[in-house]
Amino acid sequence: MKYMGSKRTMLKNGLGDVIDKSIASAPKVYDLFTGSGAVASHIAQRYQKAVIAVDLQTFAVVLAKSVLERDSAIADNSWICRWFARASAVQDMAMLKAASDLQESLITLEPEVAAALARKIATETENHPITSAYGGYYFSPLQSMWLDDLRRTLPKVKEHKDIALACLVRAASSCAAAPGHTAQPFKANPTAGPFLIEAWLRNLPKIVRETALFLSTQYAKVKGRSFVMDANIAAHDVQEDDLVFLDPPYSDVHYSRFYHVLETVARGEVGSIKGSGRYPPQEERPRSDYSLRTQSRTALDGLLSTLASRGANVLMTFPAGQASNGLSGAEVIEASSKHFKLIETKVTSRLSTLGGDRKHRAARQDSEELILYLSAK
Ligand SMILES: C[S@@+](CC[C@H](N)C(=O)[O-])C[C@H]1O[C@@H](n2cnc3c(N)ncnc32)[C@H](O)[C@@H]1O
Repeated sequence: MKYMGSKRTMLKNGLGDVIDKSIASAPKVYDLFTGSGAVASHIAQRYQKAVIAVDLQTFAVVLAKSVLERDSAIADNSWICRWFARASAVQDMAMLKAASDLQESLITLEPEVAAALARKIATETENHPITSAYGGYYFSPLQSMWLDDLRRTLPKVKEHKDIALACLVRAASSCAAAPGHTAQPFKANPTAGPFLIEAWLRNLPKIVRETALFLSTQYAKVKGRSFVMDANIAAHDVQEDDLVFLDPPYSDVHYSRFYHVLETVARGEVGSIKGSGRYPPQEERPRSDYSLRTQSRTALDGLLSTLASRGANVLMTFPAGQASNGLSGAEVIEASSKHFKLIETKVTSRLSTLGGDRKHRAARQDSEELILYLSAK
């Protein structure tokens, strides 16, 4: 899954090796800013360790949960057909017809006309929160209707439900008509309109099915847990010799600005939506001290101090240069050395570009990331 700051590529570019070196004696492993869950899943699938993943955003926890909280593959996939049958059974026939007719004619319509028709269908829809909020913007009415109907007919069996919800988040991410994240949908104008239509044409139910089959094969060697929680609070549960992976935000823009659509899919409800970005009310968007220039230093220092007092060992990644949340790589090293023994410092290249970040950080700084391996003093 595309995620700003994902460490998926870095796992093959230095981070995987440091994990290999540092994990042997850890009773448990924590990923306190789990995001896409790439690091938590990597560890859970390779090592005999329970992994605990934490994030402020519900959808991030949903993604991690679908792998961490299961220790075997699911052999019988008949639940997927039953889930789709339940969703089909609750579909509103009039809306389905309008949404399907529009979907079929998308290829021939001017984006502006398609958007007007799509928004009309979405506005007239009741009891479909995702369609009402995002239909005709991030999704075609048919795509958002499937998201709503699959969301309200989720399986009851925990293992199936965990996978199903993660599939909806991943499918929403793959189909969203937006550049990389969901801060703004593509406009229905001559420049961005073709991208909007291309995204709306993606077969969302097919992506959900394929993802369900894929996730059924992914599981942890030892069952772990995932929680929506502040990292600084979760840190108090860490025990001696646990290995804690830290990949805190480094931007002064809150993650929730970019991922509110996925958060709505994970939560299944949303308050009144505003503006062209279709944002939910401020109080529904998780806010992080790590994205506030006035708080980031104190937040990091508090976290490191708690982890040191618990006797944990820490792996941390952070941009080597100056980050827009006010912290720099040098300051992160200094704060770490205050609380821990610095065993290893690596500088590696970050292969991903971060949407929204170019505006805040020079391209050169974008390309280098620190990996710190810290042990209890
Ligand atoms: C740089 S991203 C992590 C990326 C992740 N390592 C990956 O590979 O996808 C930072 C994450 O921290 C989360 N976050 C921000 N503040 C937090 C806090 N105080 N406690 C827990 N999670 C937080 C954000 O929601 C975001 O998902």
